[in-house]
Parts: sequence; C-alpha cells; structure tokens
Amino acid sequence: MKTTDRAALDEWYAVATAAELGQAPVVTRLLGQDIELCRDEAGAPVVREILDDGGRSRALPAQERYGCVWTTLGRPNKDIFDIAESHEADRRFVPCGWVRMRASGLRVVENFLDMAHFPFVHTDILGSEPHTEVPRYLSEIRRDVDEVWATNCTFFQPRIAATESSGDFVHLTYRVPSPFVVMLYRVCPSAPDRLDAIALFIQPIEEDLCRAQPVMYLVDATSTDTALLNFEQVIFLQDRIIVENQRPLLLPLEPRLEIPTRADGSSVAYRRWLKEKGLRFGTTGAH
Ligand SMILES: [Fe+2]
Repeated sequence: MKTTDRAALDEWYAVATAAELGQAPVVTRLLGQDIELCRDEAGAPVVREILDDGGRSRALPAQERYGCVWTTLGRPNKDIFDIAESHEADRRFVPCGWVRMRASGLRVVENFLDMAHFPFVHTDILGSEPHTEVPRYLSEIRRDVDEVWATNCTFFQPRIAATESSGDFVHLTYRVPSPFVVMLYRVCPSAPDRLDAIALFIQPIEEDLCRAQPVMYLVDATSTDTALLNFEQVIFLQDRIIVENQRPLLLPLEPRLEIPTRADGSSVAYRRWLKEKGLRFGTTGAH
C-alpha cells in the first residue's frame, strides 16, 4: 500500500539504471506503490504511477541523473542533489548494480555511515584488528543545505581501494543529501589532492524492503571496470548480511532504544534529522 508519509513522498528516488531502460515497460515499486517505467520514442524516460487494476495511471516527474532514472510520488521542494564530481570529465563513472535487501533503506544508510564495523565485517579490506578504534570526528546537520555531514573522519584501512595493496589511515567525509541517499568522499589514493566520490542510491520498496545501488566517480586510470566492480560488490554483499540481520528491521528514531557510542555521532545526527523532517517510512515510529 502506498505510504501516506508526506516527508517520504516529497523526495526524489533513483528507481532504475538508465542504461537498462528501453521502450519496453518495466514495473517496480516505490514506497509501497507500483510504478511503471519506459522510454518514449525520443528516448526520454517516462514514469507512471499505477492507480488500479484497470490500468489507470498517473504521470510522474522523471529525470535522468548519475546513470539512473529518478522520480517522485510527491512534490519535492528542491531538485535532485548535486554531485560536483559528476561534472569532471576525467572521472571514471562506475554504476555497481542494484542489490535487494530485506531491511529498511534507512538502516542501509546508517550502516554506510558506520566506520566501527569495518574491521569486523570488511576484515582485511576496509579494516583489520587491532585497528578497531574510530577516532573522533565531527557530525552535523547543515541547515543551509538541509543535509547531514560527517567530517574529519579517519580510519586505518588495509586496502583502501582497488588500486591499493597496502594499508594506511584514510580520510573520509560522509554526506547524506536526502533520507535515502548517502555519499562517501575519500582521498584518492592515486591523486591525493582529489576525492573519490561514492554514492549509494536507495529505492525504498516497502518499509522493510529496499534495493540499493552504489555508483562511483573515481580518479583511477589503471583499474579495469571488472576490478572496480568486484571490489565494491564484495564489500556491499558483506554489508547486506549485516543489515538484513539487524532487529528491528525498521530504524528506531527514539533516542534511548539503541545506546549510541562516540563512534555513532553521524547516526545520532541522521536520526535527529529524520525525526525533524517527520519521516516515518522505514522507521519503528507510529504509522
Ligand atoms: Fe560496510
């Protein structure tokens, strides 16, 4: 059933990989609502909300951005967020494909923000024992842009990226530009004056079901597409196991239900921001 959650409805969502969409219609689901996607004869994406079994439907806004087709079931008060790195001509653009997960999309965002799990979940890739401590970092709700950011993050990583085979402390910045999108900026190992940008687009299907696609804008002239994809997919499949085993599947926003530690600063800011927005879809709050 389509949600009545205004805060969730009034956002943009990536709902298809642009390169995979042709003129043949495909049906998918967003926020509990069936939608149909295709391209018109000029190649422009078309998205429709299916209103009933009789085939009545309503046209929805459709935009192509960052290798995906985006739509909304509501009336967003701003355009799709900008990824500055997407405009740089020498970037490698790597869409990594959709992964379906039995969990709230909000849980997926929160897991992406969490550095403390690196040594235990991504052992010998993004973290390793005994380097388990998350050094102090800053997290904030940026009121001017209405986004959550975590800055000055550092963590010891044994591999860092597909190009690297030795470990070092990496510098990371996290950004949450909308409730179901999360980004990571990482100092690029092969060009230390630039940042690799990795975004995770989440399509909330039901409250406790979503699919997510990582897309990367990298400065990396050497790795093959396959190596880049494999690196990301190994990490993401490790995350899926963790996210699907969290209970409850929905994200609690009540501050006392899960006791935060210092490492959870970004999660605390994220939950507070969701609560301020009045977002309910995918949370344990009253519906
Ligand atoms: Fe992870």
